[in-house]
Amino acid sequence: MKMENQLKGIKRREFLKGSSKFAAATIFMGLGSSKLFGGVSATQKKISIPTVTLNNGVLMPMLGFGTNTLKDSLGVRCVSEAISVGYRLIDTAHIYGNEEAVGEGIKQSGIDRKELFLTSKLWVDDSGYENTKKAFETSIKKLGVDYLDLYLIHRPRGDVKGSWQAMEELSKAGKIRAIGVSNFEPEQLEELMGYAKIVPVINQIETHVFFQENISYPFLKSSETQMEAWSPFAAGRNEIFTNQTLAAIGKKHQKSIAQVCLRWHYQRGIVAIPRSSQKAHMIENLNIFDFELVESDMQTIATLDLNTTQFPEWG
Ligand SMILES: NC(=O)c1ccc[n+]([C@@H]2O[C@H](COP(=O)([O-])OP(=O)(O)OC[C@H]3O[C@@H](n4cnc5c(N)ncnc54)[C@H](OP(=O)(O)O)[C@@H]3O)[C@@H](O)[C@H]2O)c1
Repeated sequence: MKMENQLKGIKRREFLKGSSKFAAATIFMGLGSSKLFGGVSATQKKISIPTVTLNNGVLMPMLGFGTNTLKDSLGVRCVSEAISVGYRLIDTAHIYGNEEAVGEGIKQSGIDRKELFLTSKLWVDDSGYENTKKAFETSIKKLGVDYLDLYLIHRPRGDVKGSWQAMEELSKAGKIRAIGVSNFEPEQLEELMGYAKIVPVINQIETHVFFQENISYPFLKSSETQMEAWSPFAAGRNEIFTNQTLAAIGKKHQKSIAQVCLRWHYQRGIVAIPRSSQKAHMIENLNIFDFELVESDMQTIATLDLNTTQFPEWG
């Protein structure tokens, strides 16, 4: 099984190099900001968000919208705006306490549900076979949808085996298009693979320039499980948005620090889900597919790695 995984992993690397794994969904960006770097012109701009093919054949956008802390009316407004400017992947979780707001934002956007890639996550307190089935039903009810594109075990705690079995059944019943995990270390993923009938499509983990995940990154690259970055901007910690190294790279490409960060994730083949409460930032963050970081930029960014979490309080 592992060898098979590795071969598929190699195939993925080849895909990433040649970009042949990516398809592109064309969207139209709304009116842009007028920032010095990274802004977009005040005209409608056509943009494509590449997709990655997950191990079960489902296509997932490489760039999406994170919603942690965006609750109530703020959540509704932000999700609706994010969809209006072109995001199709929306990431939420039971523990964010905003599934109803996300659902309302989707409704207000007027988009066809089928055009979205909607992720939610099973919280630790709901682990186990029966609880997982109930928690899933609660989540989709709050979101106002009848299926999820992606459902993740939020953390490797509790009865993971029971949860995974329930998720496999929900997946086979057509209620979830793809199932995966979040915050799993390589050993925890391997343990799950010992009994899983369905290989997780995703492992969503903390990844940003200050925590480049140099153990999980190569591990996931050589597996069938796609890596997804949470807090792709380290949630603004460690003064990321005034980092002089990133600013210098951005200046060279006429791009903002945020755009350099997101482009870096994309070039590493990682799905990223930045959050923003500002429409101008939402647009700016989508505008990363018209430039390329060169090898020396990638090497310079590699030197920013602190090889540790920026969220020690969540340990
Ligand atoms: N699985 C997990 O355990 C887990 C854990 C944490 C997060 N997540 C997911 O990952 C998503 C993203 O992570 P996150 O919310 O922690 O933070 P993040 O996306 O790393 O950073 C968000 C911060 O960046 C700012 N920002 C966004 N775009 C910007 C731009 N272009 N210029 C300057 N500032 C900008 C935002 O401020 P403004 O609002 O002012 O734009 C906000 O303060 C979450 O929302 C959630 O969906 C998952």
